[in-house]
Parts: sequence; C-alpha cells; structure tokens
Amino acid sequence: MKNKKYQFEIEENNVIRAAIAPMGIDFRPNTRFYMGDYICRIYAIMQYPPTQEYGWVSKINNIAGTIVNFTSTPITETNIVEQLSKIINASRAEAENTRDALQRQRKTKTADDTTRLMARMEENNEKIAKFCCTVMVMGNDEIDFEQKCNRVESIISGVGCKLRCLSRMQKDAWKHISPSYAPVELIGDVGNRPMPVNAFYGGFPFQNSGFNDGVGYYLGVDNDGTPIIFDLWKRDGARTNSNISIIGGSGKGKTTLIKHIIVSELIRGTKVIVIDPETEYKAICDMFREDGISRWIDACGGRNGMINPLQVRPKPLSDEEEEEAESKGISELALHLKTLEIFFELYLPELTQIQKALLTKGLIAMYEKFGITWDTSVTFMKNTDFPVMTDLYNTLLEQRKTAEKGVTDDMDKLILLLENITTGADSFLWNGHTTMQSNAQFIVFDTQNMKIMSDAMKSTQYFNLLSWCWQQMSADRSEKVMVVCDEAWLLINPDVPQAMSYLRDTEKRARKYSGALAVATQNVVDFLDPKVKLYAQPVLDLPSTKFIFGCEGDDLKAVSTLYNFTDAQRELVTAGNRAECLMKAGGRSLKLKVQLPEKRLKQLGLGGN
Ligand SMILES: Nc1ncnc2c1ncn2[C@@H]1O[C@H](COP(=O)(O)OP(=O)(O)OP(=O)(O)O)[C@@H](O)[C@H]1O
Ligand SMILES: [Mg+2]
Repeated sequence: MKNKKYQFEIEENNVIRAAIAPMGIDFRPNTRFYMGDYICRIYAIMQYPPTQEYGWVSKINNIAGTIVNFTSTPITETNIVEQLSKIINASRAEAENTRDALQRQRKTKTADDTTRLMARMEENNEKIAKFCCTVMVMGNDEIDFEQKCNRVESIISGVGCKLRCLSRMQKDAWKHISPSYAPVELIGDVGNRPMPVNAFYGGFPFQNSGFNDGVGYYLGVDNDGTPIIFDLWKRDGARTNSNISIIGGSGKGKTTLIKHIIVSELIRGTKVIVIDPETEYKAICDMFREDGISRWIDACGGRNGMINPLQVRPKPLSDEEEEEAESKGISELALHLKTLEIFFELYLPELTQIQKALLTKGLIAMYEKFGITWDTSVTFMKNTDFPVMTDLYNTLLEQRKTAEKGVTDDMDKLILLLENITTGADSFLWNGHTTMQSNAQFIVFDTQNMKIMSDAMKSTQYFNLLSWCWQQMSADRSEKVMVVCDEAWLLINPDVPQAMSYLRDTEKRARKYSGALAVATQNVVDFLDPKVKLYAQPVLDLPSTKFIFGCEGDDLKAVSTLYNFTDAQRELVTAGNRAECLMKAGGRSLKLKVQLPEKRLKQLGLGGN
C-alpha cells in the first residue's frame, strides 16, 4: 500500500479551457457538435402544417436555449407554378405506385397540401417564397442537452411541424446559421419549403409587441401583455384618416370598446355625436349630464329633436363633386337636392322616375318661394328661414292645378304619397323646423323607438341624422368631431345604394375637417351585397384603424375576404373570444385584448363583470 501510486481522475474543466484557449468547434460526431462549453445540435423543419396556427412562428422562435434561423428565397410566379405542379404529379404518382400504406398516406397528403397552396396563390393572389427554418439547440451538459432536444422536438411537433436532425450536415448547418457565412445551398436544398409569405409573417404578428402612439389612451394589451396606447387623431404615412370600423358578432365587445373610446375622447375635449339604435349609450350620456356637456335626444320625434330634412345643409362631396367644386364652385342648393333625392328614395321606394322628376321640380319651386336659388349662401340663415314639408305639399298642390295632362296622374300619386309626411303619422318626424341644438359636447340620438317603424322609415331617419352629423363635422375645420354610427348596417338598402355612398363620402371627407367617423356593425355580409358593395365595402375598408372581433358563418367568410386575412388572423377572429380583437392600424396588425381599468368599467356600467 505504501508504494501504491494514487491515480486521480481529473475531470475536464471546460470553463477553464474556454478561458485559456479560444473557443473551438469540434464537429466529429454526426448528429451533434461541441462549441466551447456547449453541446449543440442543428435541426431543420422538414414539414409544415397546411394551415398554421395563430402566432406559430413565435412558439418556435422563443424556445429557451435555442437559436432559430429562417432564410427566405423569393420565387418567381412561373417557377413556383411549375415546381408545385411537379411536386403534385410526382407525389400522386408515388402514392399510386407504392404498396406501403404509410408512404401512400404521406405522398397523398403532400399532393393535397400542395394543391391547396396553388389554390391560395391563384384565388388570393398570394405571394409564395421558399422558407428554410433551422433550429440550433445548445446544452450546458449532456443531461441539459438531451432535455432541450426533447423539448424542442415536442414543441415543434406540437405546432404541427416535422423536425429532422441534420445528420452529417452539422458543419454546413452551423455555417448556414452563422452570420459570418452566406446561407449554405445544401441546407437550403434540404430545408426549403414553399410557403405563402403571409403565412410566415402572420406567424409572428405580435412579436413586435406593443402599440404606442405616445399620446392618447390605453385600450388594453397585446398578446404579450404589453399596453396598447392609441391616439385616434394620429396621422402618418399609413394612417391617413381618423376613422375607425368595428366589426364582430353579437356580444363580442364592439360597443364596449367604442364607449371607452368615446369617454376617453370626451375627456380630451372632442365633440362626440352618437347614433344609437339600441339605447346603449344613455348611461354614459347620463354620466356627463351633471357637467351639462351631454344631451340625450329621442330621435323619433321627441321634443327638441326635430331635424328638418328640407333645411339646406352641406353634403360630403364625392370625388367628382369635389373636382367640380374646385374648378367652378358648386351650388349649396344643388348639393342639397342630391341629399333629398336619397332621403325620398329611402322613404318612398315606390316613387317612379317621372314622380321623382316632378318632386324635384316642386322642390326647386318651393325653395324659390323662400328666396333660395342656385346662388344662395345659406350660411347665415336661421332654422326658421327654411321651408317645411307643408310648404312642399302646398307647392305641389299649386303645380297640380297647372300641370300638363300627361302628368296629372303622377302628380296626384305624388301628393297622396306625401300626405303622410305632411299631415299624417310620419309628420311628427319630419314636418317642422329644426329644433335640434348643436351646442352640447356630447349628443346621443336614441333611435330605439324606431323599432316599431317600417324599415323604410328607420333608414330614412338614420340618413337624416347622418346628414345633420355631417353639418356638425364640417362646420368648423379645426374642431375635432367624432360621429359614431353603431349598427351601421341599418343604413344599407340595396335599392338605394346612394345612402351608403353618402356614408363613404363622409369618411373620405372627414379627414379634411378634423372629423372621425366610427362605424360599428355585426353584419358584414350586407356590406358586400353586389348592389351596394361599391359604396358599402369602402365604409369598412377606408378607416385607417379597424377592430375586428370574433365572427361566424357568412360574416366570417365576408370579413376574411374583405381583409385578406393570414391564417393566424383568421384563427383569432374565428376563436371569437369576448373583448379580444384583431386591431389593424395603418400597416400594423396586432391582437388587442380590451382590458379596461376597473374605474372605467364601472363608468360604463360593467363593473364586476
Ligand atoms: N372589454 C370588456 N371588459 C369587460 N366586459 C366586456 C368587455 N367587452 C364586452 N364585455 C361584456 O360583454 C357584453 C357585450 O358587449 P358589447 O355590448 O360591447 O357587445 P357588442 O359587440 O356591441 O354586441 P351587439 O352586437 O349585440 O351590440 C357587455 O355588456 C359586457 O358585459
Ligand atoms: Mg353593440
């Protein structure tokens, strides 16, 4: 024992070794390599699911202890069609020829997935690129390495992708990932897969977390819990107007979000006018009543709520009218006659062309009696200076006396049709001078009582209110005015698409007048009805900021078409969680969870929910 030499096994100390020697990389084994202290392995994703889950890339990108690399290679259209066709044909042929059931299943799946990809390219004009994803796992020691490899494999298969260790290619794979080298062709050959560019970028729409306009107010949080601070009035290259559209199924949180925006805007001094078909805004109106800044109006003939349709008001100019106005000026009366044309078409859909012409003739004669001609400026005229429906009726009665024989029947019918609005049941709504005052900061038009009225009356009064709102928006270019049209689908009438064109033109012109139009609807299908689509689609599309809550069925299809969703965005909207929406502001898309402070929830009557 005395002479026995003691032998000590000295463990390698990688830390000391790394400290005294430059980091080395040892690529000897086939399926791993050693880099400094780390044991590493590089995988490539060999297969992606046909439709990707929302935020799928962020799940791969954020696995601890890994480095993930994506390379993308653009593909030209002709190239890709050729390549995809080849893949489809080859896979189908192989599926038919093989006896191996599993192989047949795989090849059929490849062919089906590729066919779907081609369809997406053709139908949606989607751009396709080749993407290659490599994942490098780094473990501190053997146990850590194995654990991380297992974890990566299970997370990535959970996303629906198939992973393969790049056996015998670790050195090339490392060069491919390393910023010191160009992408390696061999790795591209193995890992490149064609994918719609949208599907890739939609994979991490919420990676660039947060949305902060600097000023404005808090709307909630994004996917990572980062606060979203929104300024309705912010304009930049991508946000050219202050309009918003809020879309989504019933009960998903549209009105709650608008109410929050309204209260925040009122506090900042914005004038707000709401068309409220469901008596949902009365509570916040009451909240501000004590300060004397709000007014709640029963828009169905309540006292002080009359808006005289015959009062000459400004109209939001269409593109053509704007050109005309710039070149030779445009008559206020002529514009108002166009507004009246829409008003009467909504109210009396049965009017024939000849009756409409007779009506216009009567209107011009009536205005003339009140000293209003093509050159009249109405700016300084009082509400009581304008004619009312009785004046129109009497003018038509006079014209009837001298009417040519061929039109007497039509005159009689026209006069009969106008009896209701003059002396009958509808006169309480529209026969009288405007009594509506515009001096309150917050005005809510409650149209709930319109429920018992005919559809024609409902949309006519909605339109009449809208035209009054435009007058307020356009009165002072520097005053910030926000008009909220909740349940805006009520204004859609396939036989009178001009009503929607009025709303569209309001949105277009609002930006020049410090105006903001907020349009909310649960019904999207009607906006895409071929008869009104030309005007109605832009109403949802033009706003620089859009909030899209959960939708179902045909509305979901319509919304997907309208906004050309990525898979991930479609998934969010399909999930349809209450108070969660896709927010699109300018060029950015993010998930918004509308999370309001307790105090605000109480103000909106939602405390404790
Ligand atoms: N951000 C939120 N925080 C807390 N509760 C909410 C939120 N959003 C919605 N809710 C709850 O959901 C209910 C319905 O929301 P809201 O009235 O805003 O839906 P909507 O989309 O306007 O529905 P509809 O299409 O029927 O008018 C609210 O009364 C409230 O209880
Ligand atoms: Mg609502």
